[in-house]
Amino acid sequence: MTAAPRRLRKAVLPVAGLGTRVLPGTKTTPKELLNVVDRPILSYIVEEAREAGIEHIVFVTGRAKQAIEDYFDHQIELEAQLEAKGKTDILQMMNAELAEAGEMSFTRQMQPKGLGHAVWCARDIVGHEPFAVILPDVIVDSQPGALKQLADVYAEVGGNVIGVEQVPETETHKYGIIDPDGDASGARIRMKGMVEKPPRGEAPSTLSISGRYILQPEIFEILATQERGAGGEIQLTDGMARLMRDQTFTAVKYDGVTHDCGDKIGLLRANVALALKRPDLGDAARAAIRDLL
Ligand code: G1P
Repeated sequence: MTAAPRRLRKAVLPVAGLGTRVLPGTKTTPKELLNVVDRPILSYIVEEAREAGIEHIVFVTGRAKQAIEDYFDHQIELEAQLEAKGKTDILQMMNAELAEAGEMSFTRQMQPKGLGHAVWCARDIVGHEPFAVILPDVIVDSQPGALKQLADVYAEVGGNVIGVEQVPETETHKYGIIDPDGDASGARIRMKGMVEKPPRGEAPSTLSISGRYILQPEIFEILATQERGAGGEIQLTDGMARLMRDQTFTAVKYDGVTHDCGDKIGLLRANVALALKRPDLGDAARAAIRDLL
């Protein structure tokens, strides 16, 4: 009998990136704290993690990212003022996303050496247990959340599970791309390889790695010696390709709409799409957009 997969409790959020695609807005504000409608991108991401059962979040940060730590802590003066003004709705909303004591850890990447290196920086805090990685550039609008969909598959099949989505053939060079083993038409796909940012015309499929992963801790030993790959960076995809020699990987085409919030138009689109869906704002948003068009 095979043992049940070990419980997933921790998630790593690499938040050291500079946000160059949305400068100058990110000069003093971490890109992960840019607002989508009325709360930061990171608020959606942490909500997604908690929905998937994550109990501990490890942020891999860099310089000028202290505001992230503050966001999940009390802001005593502001809270007192809201209380005094009877603004209990917003106060409750703010309190709901505060971190429980000890639920969040912060470690620094110090040098931008790539996603594989960022994940490796979390090795001691994660320890020897499976963990999720969520790239906070990407908000996935889905029900249930994308990581929960992956976690459900993981609970059944164990091993390593990564989220994928279809991208146009002309875009494959921008992503990690998987090499499916046989039929790739279903929601769960067996894999025989993956490659980070393949040159145009050389991608093994049009299924991109979209920023949601559940990984086994053996990845850390591999990342420790991972050589630089695409873009001169230590790539998580290259580490996963090596881990795949010893462990299973399942790709999951989750249900949902992806918004790349690290990009100007992607961020705008996320704002519009999520405002339109809000029961309290949808009508007003629709009217405002019509007016502009
Ligand atoms: C990273 C990953 C890549 C993935 C992408 C998704 O690339 O390395 O495999 O497809 O995120 O957004 P980046 O966008 O950081 O270059």
